[in-house]
Amino acid sequence: MKVIVPPIKSQGIKTKLIPWIKDLVSIADQKGKWIEPFLGTGVVAFNSGYKKAILNDTNPHIIGFYKGIQDKTISAPLMKKYLEEEGKLLSEAENNGYEHYLKVRSRFNGGEFSPYDFIFLSRAGFNGMMRFGSKGNWNIPFCKKPDRFAQAYITKITNQVATVSQIIQPKPNWTFHNKSFADIIPLASENDIIYCDPPYYGRHVDYYNGWTEQDEELLFNLLSETKAKFILSTWHHNDWRENEMINKFWNKFNIVTKDHFYHNGGNIENRRTVVEALVCNFDTDDFTTHNHGLTEKIKLEQLALRFEERQEALGITAATQKAGKRVPKTV
Ligand SMILES: C[S@@+](CC[C@H](N)C(=O)[O-])C[C@H]1O[C@@H](n2cnc3c(N)ncnc32)[C@H](O)[C@@H]1O
Repeated sequence: MKVIVPPIKSQGIKTKLIPWIKDLVSIADQKGKWIEPFLGTGVVAFNSGYKKAILNDTNPHIIGFYKGIQDKTISAPLMKKYLEEEGKLLSEAENNGYEHYLKVRSRFNGGEFSPYDFIFLSRAGFNGMMRFGSKGNWNIPFCKKPDRFAQAYITKITNQVATVSQIIQPKPNWTFHNKSFADIIPLASENDIIYCDPPYYGRHVDYYNGWTEQDEELLFNLLSETKAKFILSTWHHNDWRENEMINKFWNKFNIVTKDHFYHNGGNIENRRTVVEALVCNFDTDDFTTHNHGLTEKIKLEQLALRFEERQEALGITAATQKAGKRVPKTV
């Protein structure tokens, strides 16, 4: 399956999970609108195939960028011209390009909204990460490659802009919003599908990605009330711990899971394999592709029990763990 890759990058991007998510979307078989309250890079929406969509994110740069593509103030040729100019300045700048990275970053952080500078920073920053500091400022170090914008790379980004320009439908078929998810979910009606990929509770946090238990509860309440079908992406467990929100909220719905390895991420935990979960309010009996083996609701107590049994078999007790021994993989 050919996956459409968007021009924006971020560490939580779901590109690799698209075939898995799409399989579940096809089981939902909804004929109405695609509703995505936590758009991020847009990769899931762009691969959804829906001609009507309501797309939202609290990050104004993401929404501003895609609105610009929709109203054609941002185009592939303009992006090409911009990247050629800025790429040349980067390659010629002092300190191995760093001086020019700083210049673009300070005009961006100075409040001069430029969707082009947003793409520049996203592509010239370390590891394709997106992170904003406590004042909403761009907070990613330079990738230290003055020749970052070589012609082949510019062509790649320009093609990505051209591709999403074809996919984004004109208003009012696709609408972009810069609100909270709580304003968006109630817009869904019975024939729609809501795909939610909120910040993961207990994990990476930044200016646009704060996420508390209250947020999770509000999301749970709104999704419990909706007449639409929904799919929620979350994490189920990793080598070290379980996502307590599964037991607290999501276990009342159907859950399918799959191993996923995240390459990017600041702290060590984010670089490990995570068992991803898709939670949904419709029947998943037909869902077998890519399944990690948990088609049925699995109680966390059961996981904990298996964990303890396995620990016992390995001769690991609470006392050895306290003494600093590594906790073995659970499932
Ligand atoms: C995990 S990312 C989504 C990633 C996306 N599925 C992708 O593949 O690129 C979560 C997104 O939710 C947005 N967000 C965080 N809190 C929000 C809120 N309260 N309402 C709406 N969007 C929010 C963040 O700005 C971020 O872009």
